[in-house]
Amino acid sequence: MATAAPHHTARAQADGQDEAAHAAAYEAVFDAAVAADERIEPRDWMPDAYRSTLVRQIAQHAHSEIIGMQPEANWITRAPSLRRKAILMAKVQDEAGHGLYLYSAAETLGTGRDELLDKLHTGRQKYSSIFNYPTLTWADVGAIGWLVDGAAITNQVPLCRCSYGPYARAMVRICKEESFHQRQGYELLLALSRGTPEQHEMAQDAVNRWWWPSLMMFGPPDDESSHSAQSMAWKIKRHSNDELRQRFVDICVPQAESLGLTLPDPDLVWNEERGHHDFGAIDWTEFREVLKGNGPCNEQRITQRRRAHDEGAWVREAAAAYAEKQATRAEPPAGHTDQQSNGTGSPQGDEPAGTADEHAEARA
Ligand SMILES: [Fe+2]
Ligand SMILES: [Fe+2]
Repeated sequence: MATAAPHHTARAQADGQDEAAHAAAYEAVFDAAVAADERIEPRDWMPDAYRSTLVRQIAQHAHSEIIGMQPEANWITRAPSLRRKAILMAKVQDEAGHGLYLYSAAETLGTGRDELLDKLHTGRQKYSSIFNYPTLTWADVGAIGWLVDGAAITNQVPLCRCSYGPYARAMVRICKEESFHQRQGYELLLALSRGTPEQHEMAQDAVNRWWWPSLMMFGPPDDESSHSAQSMAWKIKRHSNDELRQRFVDICVPQAESLGLTLPDPDLVWNEERGHHDFGAIDWTEFREVLKGNGPCNEQRITQRRRAHDEGAWVREAAAAYAEKQATRAEPPAGHTDQQSNGTGSPQGDEPAGTADEHAEARA
């Protein structure tokens, strides 16, 4: 955010005042920046609760990206063609990348990746419940792309304007890739829907199973969502859960028609007055059960994640050892002075005698 000057003003004003007045001055600068739609950057002052809310949200998002690799990776070896296999591998790899951008964004808030992964592995932080459902057929890969990545885009496009700079910028790239994910899912379902009766049936069955969990991805209804109001005030969130869910339903209905598939909701109907589709009641009991850890695949997902982490220990150790070796090599040789490496003027000029060997060494 472009608040260097106000920060200095705030510092000057707070100088000599007591702690409370000091904090109030910084808070006023923060509030003004958020109100003016400026970005908050890692070195800017921010309220502790803003920081912890962002860490929780970004961590949950990062965890969802990497856990979300599992249900689809399940189908890589069984993809029906080389083309489909290549697309699916690229998509699953993208999700790993999304996790990396997001863990990096969380690190700018002072919380390390190790700590976040530890919280994921010990169940102290959550990931999106949608990934606790199984992928039973190849059509599930299409339904996940169309519906799950589609819901993610609806949720994430407004996050590109989130008040926290590193998160907002990570979301710009993520959304571009999610858009490819959504289209490959749609295209896969379209091919199945127009295929044999069995293939059409398989596509319909997958949509039937993924539709309701996708609607739950937007979180609890607004009147039960405990974090929403504060997140909206901080401009971390731009729209309520129910607004985004409605937007998603309105986007999906015509797409389902083009696919030649139906959405499994007898109450789904266009409401002329509201200018939106009405839809049936969501079974929040199921949502809460899955959230509590009683979904069909909770245990499997977290066990697999822990195993992958343990099996990757040698990679992390090797990378750390390599970085250490590089750092040691980069250290200046004994007797090195700034004068010899300043890069300006003539290297042969007025340097002290006896340094030619060191120069030769440095070039070697
Ligand atoms: Fe993703
Ligand atoms: Fe995705």
